[in-house]
Amino acid sequence: MIRIEKLSKIYASGVKALDNLCIHVEEGEIFGFLGPNGAGKSTTIKILTTLARPTSGIAWIGGYNVLTEPNKVRCSIGYVSQETGVDYFLSGRENLVLQGRLYRMDSKSIHKRLEELLELFDLKETADALVSTYSGGMRRKLDVATALIHNPKILFLDEPTIGLDPHSRSSLWNYIRMLNKDFRVTLFLTTHYLDEADKLSHRIGILHKGSMKILDTPEALKDSIKGDSINLSLSGGAKEKAITILKESPMVKDILCEDGHVRVYVNNGSETIPGLMKLLNQQGVEILSLTISRPSLDDVYLKYSGVSFKEGESTGEANPWWAQWQKGGGGKKWKGGGDWNQEGSSEGEGIKDMSPSDGQGGAWGSWEDKKEDKGDEKQEDAWNKDKDKNEGQEEAWKKWGGSTSDWEKWGKGGGKS
Ligand SMILES: Nc1ncnc2c1ncn2[C@@H]1O[C@H](COP(=O)(O)OP(=O)(O)OP(=O)(O)O)[C@@H](O)[C@H]1O
Ligand SMILES: [Mg+2]
Repeated sequence: MIRIEKLSKIYASGVKALDNLCIHVEEGEIFGFLGPNGAGKSTTIKILTTLARPTSGIAWIGGYNVLTEPNKVRCSIGYVSQETGVDYFLSGRENLVLQGRLYRMDSKSIHKRLEELLELFDLKETADALVSTYSGGMRRKLDVATALIHNPKILFLDEPTIGLDPHSRSSLWNYIRMLNKDFRVTLFLTTHYLDEADKLSHRIGILHKGSMKILDTPEALKDSIKGDSINLSLSGGAKEKAITILKESPMVKDILCEDGHVRVYVNNGSETIPGLMKLLNQQGVEILSLTISRPSLDDVYLKYSGVSFKEGESTGEANPWWAQWQKGGGGKKWKGGGDWNQEGSSEGEGIKDMSPSDGQGGAWGSWEDKKEDKGDEKQEDAWNKDKDKNEGQEEAWKKWGGSTSDWEKWGKGGGKS
């Protein structure tokens, strides 16, 4: 259903976002696409949804080539971007009608479909209220509903549950499962919540620096890490010393690091712990706490995106991405901020261009398309710089109560119109 062959993307700035990426997603599958900030997830989705062009390689969606048959691709897919795509100054119902019109559906079909969707997503009661009065969870559900107005068989969800409370997350999970089970929708899902990927996905791929590190079922991924995982919390400065000692120990199969914690993989945790504690204590390393568990998807993720000290695999980063993990949120949400926080700065994201004259199916279009028309990569850089300059003002605008869509509509978001 989704076939990606040797996809590479180098942005005008020189950033290599994708490097020979290959993925095949079967019909009816939920594919979980994981990776740290800046790994290239949104770039992949933008190429698959025809909002960006690859530098090389090719992809097919439902048998259609994303480069040569973009209109057919667009008709087959729904896309929920990392940022909301709904208009805050329209009601939920109006948003759905707008989206249906952008897909050039006739009024009768739009109204039939929107009633189904309002029912499906429990949005009937608030359908006529302005979206600006919706809660985050309701807005996200509306986002998904608008992406489904034209009955697509493939749905791309870029961090669909970001910012939602546990209840809203689990209710959105139920909708995702239902879409897949009852309506046979194929889903391509990115998330930073590992429990979400574990619970929803039939298969998971872990992307790092634009390349796929591993791809398998959640169970197989967890089984791939044998033995037990011992999580050590150490006093300040003791981490490096502990790693040096543990690296030499034959009891230890692998060592991974996560902020102040050191994860040690051993064959039999309960038998190994006393020996390990003795070893570290003898060398003056103070252990603040110790937990033992069966390897989880966290461990798999850490293994393929982080630094393995024992096996000598290293991402080679001076400041590894896991140092930026956000605390809290059950320790599961690995969304840093810092250098990689690209939200709101990538091209075309969340834009559903309304221009019918773009020759690209009406509802779609992007900076990338416009750039290609003009054949000028430098304009993209200028556009991004302008956007950065405007970001402070945009924040102020949002605080004041203005919506992102209006910011963009009025051309203040760096020239989008
Ligand atoms: N429009 C752009 N111009 C230049 N570089 C970009 C652009 N969009 C993304 N990048 C770069 O490409 C790389 C991949 O970014 P991408 O947004 O695909 O990551 P991601 O995996 O979706 O990250 P996140 O989890 O933060 O959403 C990053 O290094 C980013 O800085
Ligand atoms: Mg992203």
